Amino acid sequence: MIPQAKIDEIIYAANIEQVIGDYVRLKRRGSNLTGLCPFHTEKSPSFSVSPAKGIFKCFGCGKAGNVVNFIMEHDSLGYVPALKFLAEKFNVEWPQQEFVNVDEEKKQRDEKESLQILNNWANDYFQDILLNNEIGQAIGLSYFESRGFRNETIKKFNLGYSLDSWSAFFDKAIANQFSEDLLFSSGLVKHKEDGKKFDAYRGRVIFPIHNLNGKVIAFAGRYLKKEPNSPKYVNSPETLLYHKSNELYGLYYGKNEIRKQDAVYLVEGYTDVISMHESGVENVVASSGTSLTEGQIRLIKRFTENVTVLFDGDAAGIKASIRGIDMLLEQGLNVRVLTFPDGDDPDSYSQKVGSDAFKNYLETQRQDFIAFKVNLLLADAGNDPIKKANVTREIVESISKIPDSIKRSIFVSECARLMNIDEQILIVELNKLRKQFLTDKEKEYISNDAFEGFVPPEKSHGEQFQELLSDSIIFDDQERDLIRLIINFGDKKIDENESETAASYLLKQILEKEIEIDNPIVTLILEESYSVLQSGNTLDGKFFINHQNPLITTLAANLLAKEYTLSPLWERKASVNLESFFKDIKGDIDSAILHLHIKYINKLIVKNQQLLTPSLSEEDFEIHQHIHMDLIKQRNVLTKKIGTVIVK
Ligand code: GTP
Ligand code: MN
Repeated sequence: MIPQAKIDEIIYAANIEQVIGDYVRLKRRGSNLTGLCPFHTEKSPSFSVSPAKGIFKCFGCGKAGNVVNFIMEHDSLGYVPALKFLAEKFNVEWPQQEFVNVDEEKKQRDEKESLQILNNWANDYFQDILLNNEIGQAIGLSYFESRGFRNETIKKFNLGYSLDSWSAFFDKAIANQFSEDLLFSSGLVKHKEDGKKFDAYRGRVIFPIHNLNGKVIAFAGRYLKKEPNSPKYVNSPETLLYHKSNELYGLYYGKNEIRKQDAVYLVEGYTDVISMHESGVENVVASSGTSLTEGQIRLIKRFTENVTVLFDGDAAGIKASIRGIDMLLEQGLNVRVLTFPDGDDPDSYSQKVGSDAFKNYLETQRQDFIAFKVNLLLADAGNDPIKKANVTREIVESISKIPDSIKRSIFVSECARLMNIDEQILIVELNKLRKQFLTDKEKEYISNDAFEGFVPPEKSHGEQFQELLSDSIIFDDQERDLIRLIINFGDKKIDENESETAASYLLKQILEKEIEIDNPIVTLILEESYSVLQSGNTLDGKFFINHQNPLITTLAANLLAKEYTLSPLWERKASVNLESFFKDIKGDIDSAILHLHIKYINKLIVKNQQLLTPSLSEEDFEIHQHIHMDLIKQRNVLTKKIGTVIVK
């Protein structure tokens, strides 16, 4: 990746007038230059270049950007090649490091491909042993059969067996031209302390782990008899193919059903997943024994927001893993839980009761997570008021992590009812925690490097780019105003007497009012602005114009270009007096925020109304009605401020 400092250096050196002048005949008009647009056919010039701002914009076709964007667009180059072109033209030294990276990348790609070929081969080999080798059949296959897995299921999940020999697998792999290095890096062969090699999965039944596309990226091997010094499962290490925290066992086989049912069951083990398939329940994944990671939750979210966590029987285990569930809530998932009788897990229970009774159990016994947690903790607390207060805190803590405010208020009401506590008390507690939670999140965010992992899009004609240019990402007036204010006036003081900058004031307002914005580009710009401010740097137009993301530079160029400094919302005002108009930045921000806030409340009202259906219980109906009234009240207060009446 090219350092931002280098990008700044190149853009600074590149004379935009000279660059564009090579392609377009430019004429000076005031402080700008104009000419015929090179991107569309026109007779009178609507293409404009501002050397002072370092941007171009065509008011005819809408194309806009900085000098790099121009080269990308004009010569159909990627971001990096365009930069390189400019570096050469203006004698800026180009970082050599890039070429090293290219080699490294190729090496990794080759190694990844080799690993995949090895895994495919090993997968076939282990299956072949299980199904066709006498010893494999006698030991491995009969084990799976004894657990009630049908042949069809065994084949579907590619289950296998590895012979109980120190080097049967290794020898076979070497004979098939796989290199020793590759075998070690895959984790299929290991070194003993004395340096001797051995088959890592020897004497174990094999569960291949598939990625989303059905490729075998890792293996788990279970021992068949308890051995005092060996673990129950051997797993592949992290490799170029396998990042444990971003994979879920069973997702490949379950994804269609998960989508169809819009729900997923989350279990602990490989055998739980397979047994549930045996019972005809296919929307199931396993975290493979470890606690859930954020990567795994994001993966789930791509398919559904409804998760039911299946717990093994014992209460101690449940209490230990219950904290992990807050992570699911935090990511906005709807969480339900289901427990099994003491000692049973989904695997054993489904075998015990049979598939119909099992399915019935899944459907009838699941509980909402908050209610479940209340009951679980209350049972322990009894009538002890101190313990009960602790329970309250813990429950409210879980609720405070739910991002959706409507869901939060529903759970608070429910919790108040279940615990027989005044709802108002819970709300006070919740608001405290919620503030703390948001501050913690901010800190977490600040410590993240905003540019980490960001790779500039390679193509100027990429889909995203086009989308933005054709305005199909819709900015409404308020959003456009917000961004325009930040890009144009970010580093200006909000008024003469205050030391606060416009950007800082604006961001604080949004955070304070908890306004959520859907538009991904607006969010991106706000987040970037936030991290610039936190790092103590100034947020001027240059920051956006020189940004690595062409989406941002294009948008910035658009909003910095003169005509666009005025949005429809402002035109009336502006026509009166342009000078005074630029002075009242604070008032402008307040107005933009107010409109956005109202828009957000309107969205909540609609969302809440959608939940208000006749099928609700009387109680829930009341809750939603209550929320409705509350939102309307909030909206009235806000609309009074702008003195307009909102129709509908
Ligand atoms: P069965 O005992 O055959 O029912 O297997 P299981 O998969 O249900 O195992 P268990 O309930 O004991 O553990 C649940 C999950 O935790 C397993 O599927 C594994 O992913 C993981 N696990 C259990 N023991 C080990 C171990 O010794 N090492 C590793 N790496 N993972 C383990
Ligand atoms: Mn089990």
